[in-house]
Amino acid sequence: MQGKGNIIVLGGDGFCGWPTSLRLSREGYNVTIVDNLSRRKIDVELGCQSLTPIETVENRLAAWREVSGRTIEFRNIDIARDYHELRTLLVELQPQTIIHFAEQRAAPYSMKSPKHKRYTVDNNINGTHNVLCALVDAGVDAHLVHLGTMGVYGYGTAGMSIPEGYLNVRVDIKGQEHEIEIPYPPHPGSIYHMTKTLDALLFYYYNKNDGVRITDLHQGVVWGTNTDETLMHPALINRFDYEGDYGTVLNRFLVEAAVGHPLTVYGTGGQTRAFIHIRDTVNCIVLAIQNPPARGERVKIFNQTTETHRVRDLAALVSRLTGAEVRTYINPRNESLENELVVHNEQFLALGLNPITLSEGLLAEVIEVASKYKDRCNLSKIIADSRWRRDIPLDREGTPVTVGTPPVAA
Ligand SMILES: NC(=O)c1ccc[n+]([C@@H]2O[C@H](COP(=O)([O-])OP(=O)(O)OC[C@H]3O[C@@H](n4cnc5c(N)ncnc54)[C@H](O)[C@@H]3O)[C@@H](O)[C@H]2O)c1
Repeated sequence: MQGKGNIIVLGGDGFCGWPTSLRLSREGYNVTIVDNLSRRKIDVELGCQSLTPIETVENRLAAWREVSGRTIEFRNIDIARDYHELRTLLVELQPQTIIHFAEQRAAPYSMKSPKHKRYTVDNNINGTHNVLCALVDAGVDAHLVHLGTMGVYGYGTAGMSIPEGYLNVRVDIKGQEHEIEIPYPPHPGSIYHMTKTLDALLFYYYNKNDGVRITDLHQGVVWGTNTDETLMHPALINRFDYEGDYGTVLNRFLVEAAVGHPLTVYGTGGQTRAFIHIRDTVNCIVLAIQNPPARGERVKIFNQTTETHRVRDLAALVSRLTGAEVRTYINPRNESLENELVVHNEQFLALGLNPITLSEGLLAEVIEVASKYKDRCNLSKIIADSRWRRDIPLDREGTPVTVGTPPVAA
């Protein structure tokens, strides 16, 4: 073994996994990407593609070798199905850390049909369980870093700020009040989010029973596209999802502005969500790797997010910067129209994270990327046809909103 040790990045061909793999390789870790390329196949299924022209994995890795002089290995393994291959790889590499991005991660995709619901559950739960089971089976003592989501907490918080995974509650035991700490009650808002809450239970069990060292990162909505490493060569460009299923809210607005599509605000746009820039996703993961839980420590949970914003405020900001029209659409989701959100993220701050927050410069950087590749955009895919229930009407037209006035519920 050379360098800082072996790291396996599960899902390392994806939006968060690719820039993370490059950064870790640059930092001197020996990185092996495991990916079954299912995200690329879903593009084919949905009839669209990353806005940015991403290269094949082989070309990506060759470009990285060329600019960095470092090698990243790649294994095409489906972690939800190929248990034996996964276990064999763990034995072979004896990784010090495994980073687990390899899940179906779009809430709208998970709600499209029974087939998509079942795929998301089969893929995400079997994948996570196979990793945990293989670690114990193979006797490999690796730190597992998993990408979860802020959505596991739900967005109705009774006015309190969301702690990092655990909640102190007072209970009555034989007439005496006692304070105990419990995992924060899960409140998933989609099948996708539900798989993340089930992942958390798997982590709880394997940590308690087998002492697996685990960090679960409850990540906010990621925005941005470039990192220092993806900018080093055109073939290293990161993927950029903009369509209704995979395009997350701020990146979707920025592409919509670039291609002249109205900004698609669901419902009143009163949803408040937690956000993080892709560069900070990578920074946080490096910090999590460098600060593993001690042996015997419970599952470490971080809120991996740097700021919260209300959706209609983001639409107004993007509209002000670009002149884009804003429209409200009947919300395809079953969620509160309006919510407040206050989130604790002191643990990453204490480890030295210096948050990258929303700035016009960074928004302009994304708009520039979106404008450069706007001819690759399939406009017909911007409105999601996924709905949380069959009785929710599909709204393809929306209702124009005058920026500056709060949108009215659709
Ligand atoms: N993008 C966000 O805004 C965001 C926000 C919060 C949490 N997350 C979490 O971060 C993780 C990564 O998200 P992303 O945006 O990079 O998603 P992505 O879809 O771009 O990447 C996931 C990668 O995992 C691979 N994969 C999926 N199932 C696999 C399997 N069974 N075996 C092997 N590889 C498999 C896919 O091919 C893909 O390359 C996800 O778990 C997601 O839930 C993402």
